[in-house]
Amino acid sequence: MDIFKNNNNIIFKEEIKKKELPNHIAIIMDGNGRWAKKRFLPRTAGHREGVKRVMDTVEECGNLGIKYLTLYAFSTENWSRPKDEIDYLMKLLVEFLRKKLQKIHNNNVRINILGDISRLDKNIVEEIEYAIDLTKNNTKLELNIALNYGGRDEILRASKLLYEDIKNNRVSINDINEEEFKKYLYTGNQPDPDILIRTSGEKRLSNFLNYQIAYTEFFFIDENWPEFYPDKLHRVIYDFQNRNRRFGGI
Ligand code: IPE
Ligand code: IPE
Ligand code: MG
Repeated sequence: MDIFKNNNNIIFKEEIKKKELPNHIAIIMDGNGRWAKKRFLPRTAGHREGVKRVMDTVEECGNLGIKYLTLYAFSTENWSRPKDEIDYLMKLLVEFLRKKLQKIHNNNVRINILGDISRLDKNIVEEIEYAIDLTKNNTKLELNIALNYGGRDEILRASKLLYEDIKNNRVSINDINEEEFKKYLYTGNQPDPDILIRTSGEKRLSNFLNYQIAYTEFFFIDENWPEFYPDKLHRVIYDFQNRNRRFGGI
């Protein structure tokens, strides 16, 4: 059975290289808590295991030649979790940046943050700003980390920024169309996601990239995030390449 599975994985990885790859993959990394609960471990153990899949996914996207990867790390709604869990998540983020930044940088990956990080502790903001600055000229893969991110918050923020620009005569309201408006989002000039993956079997958006995913292909995976090994990513890309995107046409 395992041999069969492995063979399939190799096939998927080889097959996807033959066709056009998606430009931008976005992931709602869900199910860390349930992964831990199943193993009678604390939720924090699930988050820690989840960070390993983050690194695997970043590396595999780089290897495949994906240009943009957006990972949902912490939502504007996640502040409603117990303080201990929030603190642990922030601790993991700092640990991730300290331990993996050099490797990420060596892999020519650029780190961007989507979300309002001003609410985070000063030391965390400093770590993040250092990572953004260090990697700012990297060109292989753009890694967007959505942190204190909410899709509605992003649209509201964009509207306010646009209002300021109109008020100060930096832009004319007549020149604002969908493409111009998008530049005010955290994702700026980046292309919209081609693929949205959500792990753990939940089938909802949870306030992620509301504006950008108008024509994104959705993939709901039953496995929890700590089980999302690169073979799952290959399978999603393979399925994506065999879908028929019409964008309203025929
Ligand atoms: C996703 O896993 C990680 C974050 C939201 C930070 P969860 O912590 O939501 O895990 P479940 O959904 O409770 O299993
Ligand atoms: C979405 O997962 C947020 C992240 C993965 C960071 P949640 O677990 O917070 O979403 P809900 O509460 O199940 O909708
Ligand atoms: Mg969850």
